[in-house]
Amino acid sequence: MKALEGKGAHMHPGLARFRESLCEKGWRRTLALIPRNVLHRLTDFDRRHGTDTAVEATGRAGLPEAHEPYEATSAYLFHGIIRRLSADPRTFTFVDLGSGKGKVLLLAAHYPFRRIIGVEYDARLSATAAANARRYRHPRRRVDRVETRCADAGAFDFPDGNLLIYMFNPFKAAVMVRVLANLETALRRTPRTVLVVYRNPTQRHLLDRSPLFTCVDDRAYPTRRFGTGPAAHVLVYRNSCYGVSSRS
Ligand SMILES: C[S@@+](CC[C@H](N)C(=O)[O-])C[C@H]1O[C@@H](n2cnc3c(N)ncnc32)[C@H](O)[C@@H]1O
Repeated sequence: MKALEGKGAHMHPGLARFRESLCEKGWRRTLALIPRNVLHRLTDFDRRHGTDTAVEATGRAGLPEAHEPYEATSAYLFHGIIRRLSADPRTFTFVDLGSGKGKVLLLAAHYPFRRIIGVEYDARLSATAAANARRYRHPRRRVDRVETRCADAGAFDFPDGNLLIYMFNPFKAAVMVRVLANLETALRRTPRTVLVVYRNPTQRHLLDRSPLFTCVDDRAYPTRRFGTGPAAHVLVYRNSCYGVSSRS
């Protein structure tokens, strides 16, 4: 036993995992899992880009009641949503409210947005997002500067200019009410076009009854290529007052 442990200590981590799987699951299940594991290693976002966007076991630890925990949007889903929007990125600032570890900010950097801003309440997630933005080198990256703000989205002061706001079920009603009030102030200050992309829209009733916005798209998107993985419910809203422009 001692000799085996000694050998295991110097074993390649991949081989060690293989041996562990053989002991736990047996030959048949271990061999059946190989194609899935190889596919995962080839397609895993963090492995390919040297980033850290993975969900952590801590879940919603330390988050106030009105805040939802971190979970990342898949690249396949994000690009699917953006490509369907008929908006010229060059005329929009992209804002991810509840940006977590910043995966969506990295993906948004593939499009020539005027600015890309992430607002995240959790300081640790926000710092990771900033580190990811420095590390992420993708041949399709078009925007160098990604701004990360560690702040409550409900207190975010929206910048001037057209806005594309992305939300992946980041918070409950108490925060959403404040976000909408701030948006109204910003729109009154400077009329412009605002698009809101809302994934897993648990607070859609607040947008639906807001005189500011009209829902212009409501559909289920595949989250992974070939339709594997669960579908994502995504709504798109466009401002119906204060300066809707027909150009963007
Ligand atoms: C489901 S994750 C989405 C992450 C990212 N937008 C994505 O799609 O990959 C929601 C994030 O919202 C953050 N959040 C929750 N309430 C917030 C608030 N009031 N202000 C800013 N961020 C908040 C959470 O910490 C979490 O990281």
